[in-house]
Amino acid sequence: MEETRYLTFALGKGRLASRTLELLEEIGITCEEMKDKKSRKLVFVNEERKLRFFLAKGPDVPTYVEYGAADIGVVGKDTVLEENRRVYEVLDLGFGKCRMCVCGPESARELLMHHERIRVSSKYPNIAKDYFYNKKHQTVDIIRLNGSVELGPMVGLSDVIVDIVETGSTLKENGLAVLEEICPLSARMIVNQVSMQMQPERIKKLINEIREHLETREA
Ligand code: PRP
Repeated sequence: MEETRYLTFALGKGRLASRTLELLEEIGITCEEMKDKKSRKLVFVNEERKLRFFLAKGPDVPTYVEYGAADIGVVGKDTVLEENRRVYEVLDLGFGKCRMCVCGPESARELLMHHERIRVSSKYPNIAKDYFYNKKHQTVDIIRLNGSVELGPMVGLSDVIVDIVETGSTLKENGLAVLEEICPLSARMIVNQVSMQMQPERIKKLINEIREHLETREA
């Protein structure tokens, strides 16, 4: 049956979007328009398969998907957890692997063991809150930052940070270490709940196509 309606994808800007487009190309879905680096266009289409793509700031991707402005989104698990939107998380895409950790100077390790009331700075206040309050049952003060979070313990703003660790070199270069691991992270595909009900076959077919491709690539 010929599709009449566009299936819209919201992709987290940057590396995640490039990796997603590469993955889609591997299963034969291309979007030439999007490769033109000079273009100022924000929305791109693949007419043949009736697909539409747009790039958004990572933390906004779950918002577009929850409200149905996008049927499908690709974003890091960190953002899925932090934003906690009503969306279905349907697939682990396996790239963008890293870890959410509590980090700080070695001297802060003890503060974590004795459940002291400490200061935690993070770009991910909800993840930090959930971890300390619900998992560790430790009362802490959470300070929201917007980036370069490693500065927190270095300049005396906080005792520890909750942040993403990929290679670990940012921590190392700044005399900090992983003190506790919260959870592993990677890129996830999320789906609008109504879209999933309205066009389950089309969306599930696409998810399966990607899943099978990832499995054969791994094997
Ligand atoms: C992220 C994260 C760490 C760093 C970890 O920051 O917040 O700072 O990458 O990577 P590594 O373990 O490989 O060193 P990002 O570059 O996104 O910038 P930000 O500090 O402004 O959030």
